[in-house]
Amino acid sequence: MADISTPPTSALSAASAPVIIRREAYRVPDWLVPDIALTFDLDPDATIVTARLSVTRNGEHDRPLRLDRDGISPTRVTVDGVDLPEGGYALEEEALVIPLTGGAHVVETQTTLSPIANTKLMGLYASGGLLCTQCEAEGFRRITFFPDRPDVLSRYDVLLRADEGDYPILLANGDPVEHGSFGDGRHFARWTDPFPKPCYLFALVAGDLSCNTDSFTTMSGRTVKLGIWVKEGDLPRTDHAMKALKDSMAWDETVYGREYDLDVFNIVAVSDFNFGAMENKGLNIFNSRYILADPETASDLDYDAVEGVVAHEYFHNWSGNRVTCRDWFQLSLKEGFTVYRDQNFSADMGSHAVKRIEDVRMLRAGQFPEDAGPLAHPIRPESYMEISNFYTATIYNKGAEIIRMIALILGDAAFRKGTDLYFDRHDGEAATCEDFVKAMEDASGVDLTQFRLWYSQSGTPRVSAALSHDAATGRASLTLTQTLPATPGQPVKQAMAIPLRVALFDPQAPGQAAEELVMLDRLSVTITRPGHAKPPVLSINRGFSAPVIVEANRSNADLALLSAHDDDPFGRYEAMQQLMVNVLMAHIAGDRLESGPVIEAIRRTLADPALDGAFVAEAVKLPGEAYLGDQMPVVDPDGIHAAREALQAEIGRVLEDQWRALHTASARKGFSLSPDAKAARRLRNVALNFLVASGAKDGPAIAFAQFDGADNMTERQSALATLANGTSDEREAALDIFYNRYSKDALVLDKWFQTQAFSFHPDTVELIEELARHKDFTLANPNRARALYGAFSGNQWAFNRADGKGYRMVGDFILAVDAINPQVAARMVPPLGRWRRFDEGRAALMQAQLRRIEDSADLSKDVREQVVKSLG
Ligand code: TRP
Ligand code: ZN
Repeated sequence: MADISTPPTSALSAASAPVIIRREAYRVPDWLVPDIALTFDLDPDATIVTARLSVTRNGEHDRPLRLDRDGISPTRVTVDGVDLPEGGYALEEEALVIPLTGGAHVVETQTTLSPIANTKLMGLYASGGLLCTQCEAEGFRRITFFPDRPDVLSRYDVLLRADEGDYPILLANGDPVEHGSFGDGRHFARWTDPFPKPCYLFALVAGDLSCNTDSFTTMSGRTVKLGIWVKEGDLPRTDHAMKALKDSMAWDETVYGREYDLDVFNIVAVSDFNFGAMENKGLNIFNSRYILADPETASDLDYDAVEGVVAHEYFHNWSGNRVTCRDWFQLSLKEGFTVYRDQNFSADMGSHAVKRIEDVRMLRAGQFPEDAGPLAHPIRPESYMEISNFYTATIYNKGAEIIRMIALILGDAAFRKGTDLYFDRHDGEAATCEDFVKAMEDASGVDLTQFRLWYSQSGTPRVSAALSHDAATGRASLTLTQTLPATPGQPVKQAMAIPLRVALFDPQAPGQAAEELVMLDRLSVTITRPGHAKPPVLSINRGFSAPVIVEANRSNADLALLSAHDDDPFGRYEAMQQLMVNVLMAHIAGDRLESGPVIEAIRRTLADPALDGAFVAEAVKLPGEAYLGDQMPVVDPDGIHAAREALQAEIGRVLEDQWRALHTASARKGFSLSPDAKAARRLRNVALNFLVASGAKDGPAIAFAQFDGADNMTERQSALATLANGTSDEREAALDIFYNRYSKDALVLDKWFQTQAFSFHPDTVELIEELARHKDFTLANPNRARALYGAFSGNQWAFNRADGKGYRMVGDFILAVDAINPQVAARMVPPLGRWRRFDEGRAALMQAQLRRIEDSADLSKDVREQVVKSLG
């Protein structure tokens, strides 16, 4: 897809010097493959793959056909039915090169694979008795020889042959056309997909699966057969996913006018999976954690995640599949847009306010640190070594914020015109981010020239807001100034177009001012507004209208006022959070803990009958330790931890009666997924947490009672987490009971590992070290590995223990897992790459781990790229 070149300056040895792929080097493919017929003789140890490609020369050139390969060798190559001798083709390290003379040929290859030996979980692999595939981004070349780039679109005809007993179900993309038995214990199924697609959307699944079957009638009256395929025992846990699928199909018709196109839509759940799920055409494959849910084993957050991921993958059918990406630099074209779509779907299914708070929290926790560190990249990157490393919070979540800003600037109606035009114009094509923006401009008449900088400039912009007031004229002036931090490869930047929703409140009548959209499109913009007898209070970046950091220097009194009265729920939440941040930062800097204003604000929020309980639960929660770390020039993990614990305890003590009352009042008999019941559980868990933090003697006993008596995972898991933070006897008891009750259920056992890795126990680091030796711990299963180490690296206080033991444990983990699964290993590098944010001692210890990894032999390209960039 792109020309290749080696890095100009590099400390890497020639043997391992990674190839850098560059965006500007894009060239159209030399050869197209309009049709492909695949035959799989499936077997866990030795699967034979035969591929028949009809290839056509694309343009005037005399270049040979280059077919990508990764770890596979041809056992046979034919051109137009004639066997090629050994010298008739060239076998390069990463390609099978075939010289061809004419404009169109039929090329057939054969190879043999071992799914069972495939621990990378890319290509064809085995998971719990199933055989399944993962091809995005570059897994298809591990299955067969092919131009593995998303701008080569083909019609697929797939024949699967397998043992009837072990693999009674045979699935692939598209529609089933025939199946039958050979009478010798083996059987076959043939699938064809009429929609041309890039090979990253190819999928097959074979195994002993049971199906939750349903149907959906589309807006034009077609009936689509829906199937969710799981192991038989998991069938009762698939109803929520099925409901989410049908809701998604209806929502995409109503909100975007997008109808499903095939006669069947299948989803398969697998327990070994590198990411969340995959949008393969007509055959989505899911990490089972995003399909399976019942009250006993899934928390409300799990239910919401199932709904969101089912929607996300379904929405890809249009934003990703019907219109796909020209090259992997355009990844945010499908991912940012699809995240935006799934976020709005989830908001419509539940609470808009709470969903926005959750999404912003996620952005700040995952994307802001990335954008402020050595791995910062624009949502449309300029280069990469390993594309798997670019499935990032920036591409996905910041990408979604960029689309959200376009929608805000255009307005709902013009945005919809824009998406209609985009889908219409590019249906069946491999498109670019530029195509999307152009469609938005053409449909709306809005000029997005400057806005395009969001695609090319990395780093989180900072906006400082200074409000002044002239009592004589009643005029208020707001000066907004943007600063754009330097990021790797981008020392200086141009002013961006930052849309800020703003309101100026009269302190006597807060929440009653008209909101306006201010476009900060120069380094500095001042607006002046009359009619303010008194100095107004500033509500800014309402709804989090732009993914920026606002420094407004508002007084605690103003923040308290907004936390009680802002009519924008996000603004209200944000004011409360900022108030908490101010109080904690002052305390960390050495001041007395001034908890009064925070406690007052919480008291008022708890007592406000107009508020939705789920919102209240989010609003009264203290900001997490990592977010607090992001507010400091040098992160002080111990200072943050101590201050936050102290404030939590004080809020617990002063409002103890309220927490007790709330904990009791929010108990419910009988499980329900109604918004009201979910809100009650959120409140109950927050109340329990503050109550235990208060130090009340009966705290652990109350937590244990909730843990033990819960009829749902939301309350059980939360009580367990609360207990895991202390050293009570109840802690050990609850962990043992939980383990014994769920040790046979992998997804719930993940929670047991994760809860301990997240916990604030004085010996968390040692406990994790022990858990890594637990008989149920394994590096081979990504969910299990992440449950322990992913959670640990997110535990700022424990991971950053001053002696560096946490860093060493993660270093060991990266090296060990890299030999098994490079994608899982590479995702653990960024926490070590944050060394510039810490004191010299910690920074040196983190760098030492990065160097140790860098020096190790046989490192994957995935880990090498992340480590080299992290060392800087
Ligand atoms: N396209 C998938 C999604 O966002 C992401 C994905 C699934 C993926 N599996 C992967 C990306 C493996 C890279 C490698 O829905
Ligand atoms: Zn996606």
